[in-house]
Amino acid sequence: MTPQEAIALIDNLLQSANKKHKLNDIQSLVFLETWEGHSYQEIAERHQYEHDYTKKVGSHLWRNLSQITGEKVSKQNLQAVLRRYHHSNSPIQPASEGDNCIQDWGEAIDVSYFYNRLQELETLETWISSNTTRAIGIFGLGGIGKTSLSVKLAQQIQSQFEFVIWRSLQQTPTLDVILSNILQILTGSEATTNNSISALMEQLRQKRCLLILDNMESILQGGNRSGQYQQGYEDYRQLFARIADESHQSCLILTGREQPGGFAARSGENSPVRSLQLFGVSPPVCQKILADKGLKATLLQCQNLVNYFGGNPLAIKLAATTIKTIFGGDIDAFSVQGNTVFSDLWDLLDRQFDRLSPLQQQIMYWIAINQERATPANLKADLLPKVSGRQLMEALESLAERSLNYTSSTSLMLQPAIAEYVRERLLEK
Ligand SMILES: Nc1ncnc2c1ncn2[C@@H]1O[C@H](COP(=O)(O)OP(=O)(O)OP(=O)(O)O)[C@@H](O)[C@H]1O
Ligand SMILES: [Mg+2]
Repeated sequence: MTPQEAIALIDNLLQSANKKHKLNDIQSLVFLETWEGHSYQEIAERHQYEHDYTKKVGSHLWRNLSQITGEKVSKQNLQAVLRRYHHSNSPIQPASEGDNCIQDWGEAIDVSYFYNRLQELETLETWISSNTTRAIGIFGLGGIGKTSLSVKLAQQIQSQFEFVIWRSLQQTPTLDVILSNILQILTGSEATTNNSISALMEQLRQKRCLLILDNMESILQGGNRSGQYQQGYEDYRQLFARIADESHQSCLILTGREQPGGFAARSGENSPVRSLQLFGVSPPVCQKILADKGLKATLLQCQNLVNYFGGNPLAIKLAATTIKTIFGGDIDAFSVQGNTVFSDLWDLLDRQFDRLSPLQQQIMYWIAINQERATPANLKADLLPKVSGRQLMEALESLAERSLNYTSSTSLMLQPAIAEYVRERLLEK
């Protein structure tokens, strides 16, 4: 029995046991490495994971297999159990992709060159497979990889759903347009007469659907408080509230640079609403992204780029282009010159910065030039005109919800590239 045959057998076992899903990338990796006789520690070292994490993935998998096969499965007897099972059961039917699942990917992007994010995919998959999660938000800075992750996730778990529908809100469609579009797919009719939220809820109760709405921030306002809906889009609030609060068998995934109002309050460990803040990629992923752009980089060079750009894959891709065109492919020359926020990245940060209220912009300027003493207390003392504690906290919360600043113990921090951008913007002023 080859490891690939073993994986096909496990996929079949999981599906026939009504778990409905196949092994995901991290489970397959742990399985294959274990099959080859590697310990959790070795797997963790070879693939740059925490030891506890690979152990958790492995234990979870053996537990599932024990339940299905009726035999206690462990690392030690894995091969023996599967071989026995293989011989005593009918030949393996290869599991087919997305059985009986109707899919509409809208303008979803291609994710053929998507690396890692295994931990995030595993977390999201666990939430969704539990069948108790009704809404998930994936939030983070522009270019951090929210859209790519949502597409990759949906591709991996499509077989758990009867419908997968992916839509972008970037062109700010009204709720009516989105509802009629989704309902046509769910009901299989050319035109629907009732495009109400209630009609959608009825469908979400009857069928197991995965809805993904990308670019949430497009229908949110800039300015004082993050998460407020733009005029004419407030009815989306009701859509999200009903999907989060009412009982049904479907799941909604939202992605955005900002959290919509009401989301943070609803999400939590034991809640049907979960939220994932997405951070940058690791140096090995940076290395692969650069390699795709034809640049050969050492891990140390990648570590420097990752530190500077907060691991933002879009910024890394943009940097790769600058390194090639302006620095003749010399990564060190780019890093020495460093501290440059080049034009495309500048535009991206401009768009996010312009959404901030004057107070939030002032706070960003202050943090960027006072990094050594950037605590909330010093900030409050320095700000002119004076603001109340409540206004200050509200502004800091909004900045965090817009993924722009973060707090490490008591210090307020900005990623180096963002701090550089803010300082240059201040100079321009
Ligand atoms: N894990 C990854 N591996 C390789 N490339 C990635 C990865 N994640 C993202 N990228 C690339 O980085 C770029 C930005 O990703 P993506 O569009 O998903 O970001 P986003 O967070 O949705 O940004 P925005 O807020 O602008 O919508 C894309 O070109 C994408 O292909
Ligand atoms: Mg996106």
